[in-house]
Amino acid sequence: MATTPNNGLNAFIAALPKAELHLHIEGTLEPELMFALAGRNGIRLPYSSVEEVRAAYRFANLQDFLDLYYAGAAVLLETQDFYDLTWAYMQRAFAQNVRHAEIFFDPQTHTARGVAFSAVIDGISRALADAEARLGLSSRLIMCFLRHLDEAQALATLELALPYRDRIAGVGLDSSERNNPPGKFREAFRRARAAGFAAVAHAGEEGPAAYVREALEALQVVRIDHGNNALDDADLVTELAQRRIPLTVCPLSNVRLCVVPDLSAHPLQRMLDLGLMVTVNSDDPAYFGGYLNENYLAVADALTLDRATLAQLARNSFQASLLDADTKATLLAEVDSVALSAAS
Ligand code: HPA
Ligand code: ZN
Repeated sequence: MATTPNNGLNAFIAALPKAELHLHIEGTLEPELMFALAGRNGIRLPYSSVEEVRAAYRFANLQDFLDLYYAGAAVLLETQDFYDLTWAYMQRAFAQNVRHAEIFFDPQTHTARGVAFSAVIDGISRALADAEARLGLSSRLIMCFLRHLDEAQALATLELALPYRDRIAGVGLDSSERNNPPGKFREAFRRARAAGFAAVAHAGEEGPAAYVREALEALQVVRIDHGNNALDDADLVTELAQRRIPLTVCPLSNVRLCVVPDLSAHPLQRMLDLGLMVTVNSDDPAYFGGYLNENYLAVADALTLDRATLAQLARNSFQASLLDADTKATLLAEVDSVALSAAS
């Protein structure tokens, strides 16, 4: 077999069918589109060029990033803007053989600026419908509550979402984790679950293992987004492994936000060794230097993951998804067939 510098790993990762389960649509706003939308909407950006925007992407922590991420999102005003943003991501995902995407959106970032909830959801969901029809790329939408705001605002956002219940599969929790424990949103999540939404939450990215436990107990989540700091609590790790609670891990994000010092210190292999249900995801790819395949490749190189492990991560991504059992089985068989043909 022909060998390339990384022994064909690049091609193998590209060939693997994958699901992306931790992706903020606002975090896919590339500087080029940011400028185009600013021009279209008559908004002045505090940057003079795309290069200047990219040069500003140096973050010491999560809050540093969030400040820029919310500022960038200010160019999104019209339904068409949300469509263009989402369609651009779906095309990139399709090109990387992502077969299914579960996508976060942050309505409060937009409604706080006077943008109608309907503009946000209509633009995003039309692009998702087009991606399904034209690219065969399936998706689910997960509405995140901003945890730096109070629960009353989360509850008001949930009310706005109820008429769109058929277009939104789940609720999540994102933004500044420190000092904003999951329990702050117990009632919002209780009502969301009662209305039929699946529950997920960011926990253990900058916050302690106790926040991961609190997300499980107070919010009854079916997945943990990030979850890195769960490793500090052996009993919690045992529970996550036994219950097969998926962790949506984001390697390049973790490096850019200084959650890990560098990729060689990334806990992904340790998580797998502990029997955790780990998936690889891109989080905010326009800000963190790579989409899904770049995340797989970076972590494979840094931790010398073999093909069997990469195929397992792809399988986990479908297992951990909100897809129905039949669709999961079909996609898992496709992963097996790629893994098998590479092994022969
Ligand atoms: N953590 C918390 N909030 C976020 C993130 C993240 O990684 N990305 C976008 N919002
Ligand atoms: Zn995230």
